[in-house]
Amino acid sequence: MKASASAPGKVILVGEHFVVEGSPAIAVAVDVRARATAEAAEGDLVTISSRELGEASFGPGAGGGPLYPVYVAVQEIFKRAGRRAGLRLTIESDIPPGAGMGSSAAVAAAAAAATARLLGLPLSPDEIAQAALAAETIVHGKPSGIDPAVTSYGGAIYFKRGAKPERISADFGRVRLVLADSGIQRSTGALVARVLETKRRHPEVLEPLYKAAANLAEKARSALERGDFATVGELMNINHGMLSALGVSNAKLEELVYAAREAGALGAKITGAGGGGMIVALCWSEDAERVARALSGIAARTIVAPVSEKGATSTLEG
Ligand code: MEV
Repeated sequence: MKASASAPGKVILVGEHFVVEGSPAIAVAVDVRARATAEAAEGDLVTISSRELGEASFGPGAGGGPLYPVYVAVQEIFKRAGRRAGLRLTIESDIPPGAGMGSSAAVAAAAAAATARLLGLPLSPDEIAQAALAAETIVHGKPSGIDPAVTSYGGAIYFKRGAKPERISADFGRVRLVLADSGIQRSTGALVARVLETKRRHPEVLEPLYKAAANLAEKARSALERGDFATVGELMNINHGMLSALGVSNAKLEELVYAAREAGALGAKITGAGGGGMIVALCWSEDAERVARALSGIAARTIVAPVSEKGATSTLEG
């Protein structure tokens, strides 16, 4: 018997970094997915293999290596099931790693969902998100939990640290997201730590900015709910300026953001931790290819993606 699962990548529309300190943020799932298959194996080892990261086996108490966070997500499922099992887990992902699209959370969510399905354990999106969050904590220190939440739920999520994520009811049919990769790899954990350190040194300057970011997320939520994408785009531009103030922009990201706006995007900003990785441009559907073309000459890659309603899903095969 074999179980397979997939989970989507994510794009933060507004609020990254600010969300780590308790401001709300809004993220959407996009249909670029990570997949996992789980099969029962003899003994109690969990062997995880990936084309990019190789293969590693984990037993009780074992740790370390690039595949260890995936094992941590699987272990969370064992805890919920009240038993371990020998497993062979294969993971693969179309989500560019280290680029701000939540690839590590999606891989962990897919692995957790496939394992739970194989063990016959029904899981809510919240429970899958919790397993993926345990993995994220290994990958980057102080995650807010937004990436695990959006990959597990799908659609558009209003997220506030410590509160249950809320699905935003919005119709994204008329818009597309254009993602452009700076090609600069960076560590989310290191950037989060740097921003927190800057805030610690200048609280009287940055605390009002965090408050403003919370107000911005509330406005963006109501604009999404009434389908006012022009306002969402404007708020994304303002949010980009706030992220620059936190120190996570650079010349390449600014070049991409301005090129997207000049080509007709409704709004464009860093998405994810910044310092490299991707920018996102919100576009009317009919403008998306033009914006992507304008970015393709200066980006390492571009992706045009509709918002995906589908979060983590799993099935049992033969
Ligand atoms: C990373 O996708 C978003 C950050 O806000 C970190 C987090 O929320 O865990 C930078």
